Amino acid sequence: MEKIVILTGAGISAESGLGTFRDEGGLWSQHRIEDVATPEGFARDPALVQGFYNARRVQAAQAQPNEAHRALARLQRDWPGEVVIVTQNVDGLHEAGGASDVLHMHGTLAGALCASCGHRWTAPDQMQVGEPCPSCGAPAGRPDVVWFGEMPYFMDQIYDHLAEASIFAAIGTSGQVYPAAAFVHEAIAAGARTVELNLDPSAVVSSFDETRFGPASETVPAWVDELLGNR
Ligand code: OAD
Repeated sequence: MEKIVILTGAGISAESGLGTFRDEGGLWSQHRIEDVATPEGFARDPALVQGFYNARRVQAAQAQPNEAHRALARLQRDWPGEVVIVTQNVDGLHEAGGASDVLHMHGTLAGALCASCGHRWTAPDQMQVGEPCPSCGAPAGRPDVVWFGEMPYFMDQIYDHLAEASIFAAIGTSGQVYPAAAFVHEAIAAGARTVELNLDPSAVVSSFDETRFGPASETVPAWVDELLGNR
């Protein structure tokens, strides 16, 4: 049974209306990473950080999955082997599109995390400064998203999956953030065929066996059709 491991990034949700980070006008041209996506930034100005993620949580809750999310769910359902989706995205659009067991390596906007005791719970729409932890009571609630300088989630599981991959695809990601950008090398070491589906070539494009450029809502369903049709 061929195992497929898929890494997704902000580009797969772009056509659902969620802005990417590094494209023109993207989130990192409007906000400084140091301010809104580091533990130090949160310590300095928790109101700014909670406000940034509160706005993104509202946006993500209003967004609908697109044809690319739905195609990956179809692949998961119809492929005879395992299809593992690893996403850097903090939205829930893979699940809304029908996918299951998605590994959110950068966390999720739907979650809150206690910076004091590590307890996790469902985030309210609007998290407040000093959001109380329902477990230990500390006023230390933060978004359950991974910030720069923190360890992404599920890394052991992800490397185990990559070591067994027959096919590896990276979709809608610029290849600028590690460790995700190096997953292609793990997959190559495992003997996987590798394909990049992106609007523009990523920073690690030369590592891939195959590339398909275009909007994810078109390239991903076509790729899935080929995989399922060629069997
Ligand atoms: P980026 O914003 O870095 O890259 C988005 C990629 O999507 C680019 O390569 C675009 O060419 C591509 N793209 C844009 N529109 C697309 C479309 N309609 N169809 C297909 N591709 C499209 O986003 P990520 O690579 O996801 O981490 O960024 C990785 C991480 O950096 C994020 O998870 C976040 C960010 O800082 C943290 O905050 C920890």
